[in-house]
Amino acid sequence: MLRVGIVGCGNIFTMHATSCAHLDGAKLVGVCDIKHDRADKQGLKYGVTAYYDYRDLIKKELIDVVHVCVPHYMHPIISRYAIEQGVHVLCEKPMSIEYSDAVENVRLAKEKGIKYGIIFQCRFNDTAKLIKENLMNGKLGKVLSARVVLTWCKPDEYYSLSDWKGTWDKEGGGVVIDQAIHSLDLANWFISDEIESVQASLNNRSHSIMEVDDTGEGYITYKGGATLSFWAMNNYACDDDIEIRLCCEKGKAVMSYDDAKITFFDGTEISVKQGAGDIIYDGGKDYWGFQHIREIKDFYDAVRENREPMISGEEALKIQKLVCAIYKEGKKTFKKVK
Ligand SMILES: NC(=O)c1ccc[n+]([C@@H]2O[C@H](COP(=O)([O-])OP(=O)(O)OC[C@H]3O[C@@H](n4cnc5c(N)ncnc54)[C@H](O)[C@@H]3O)[C@@H](O)[C@H]2O)c1
Repeated sequence: MLRVGIVGCGNIFTMHATSCAHLDGAKLVGVCDIKHDRADKQGLKYGVTAYYDYRDLIKKELIDVVHVCVPHYMHPIISRYAIEQGVHVLCEKPMSIEYSDAVENVRLAKEKGIKYGIIFQCRFNDTAKLIKENLMNGKLGKVLSARVVLTWCKPDEYYSLSDWKGTWDKEGGGVVIDQAIHSLDLANWFISDEIESVQASLNNRSHSIMEVDDTGEGYITYKGGATLSFWAMNNYACDDDIEIRLCCEKGKAVMSYDDAKITFFDGTEISVKQGAGDIIYDGGKDYWGFQHIREIKDFYDAVRENREPMISGEEALKIQKLVCAIYKEGKKTFKKVK
């Protein structure tokens, strides 16, 4: 039985706690939040001790696995502490704000023999799996070009109600590092090649209330010749369907929200629709993707079987490197319009 602790009792907490409760061989034994009321509420709900300092949770409960569900700037700090204490870490995206912090934690986890996983649950959606399988088995051929479009809505209250969103030091950016990171990860995973160059522009066009990007655009080239173009913004009127399109050697693939369709150039087509999640999350939002439980199960299995999780720290470094390169480029011409 794995003893599990969760640090951070905010919005995403429920996806982790509900998943843990549904999985055999794992038991939530403690929760933690610096906001005492949040920790107390979840502690009471799950019948476990509430802590206000992650170091106490990790030391006193003798946990095997810690889920890190806190603001971005704390990800590498808590992950590092847990790794040093010999505790396996499953951390929400992104791994860190600075690339070097993520690299250091991957190195340390390897040295200490600790499993270090990063949540990118969208890779576990049936839609993403269909496309990846048809790339891996050669039926689609190589990706020539990929395109990502994300038009979501983050009203001013999304930022005003948070003490870390919308800040360079605590969130590390805006629409790219927080929202588009999932679809950029999928496109980068589909292409699976080494990045050659990154061009990007980032702006804050309409959110006078916060500091960081609400709009991002870019063009990435890969050593094998593929290209990835993206356009992301969170100043749209609604959370519209994210679209990822691939033009490949032997066909085209489209992922649009919970549909995926592949049209091969020989005229055949295959498609899949993502059904409801494997479980019902109490209060979880569907546009996060429903598959936290699939990734969390894989992580717990990886710990038990002493193998790497499907999205290890090393694997997640690929999207971390890309996102950090987008910010490096985008910050050169960044403008806050209002
Ligand atoms: N995978 C996804 O689709 C998805 C969706 C939403 C959020 N997230 C990620 O989850 C993380 C948390 O996001 P959220 O929306 O739940 O944020 P949130 O602000 O709702 O919750 C974060 C919680 O962490 C607590 N906290 C801050 N510092 C702490 C510390 N040092 N020790 C203990 N607790 C601390 C805060 O008090 C807060 O309750 C972020 O990394 C975010 O990007 C992922």
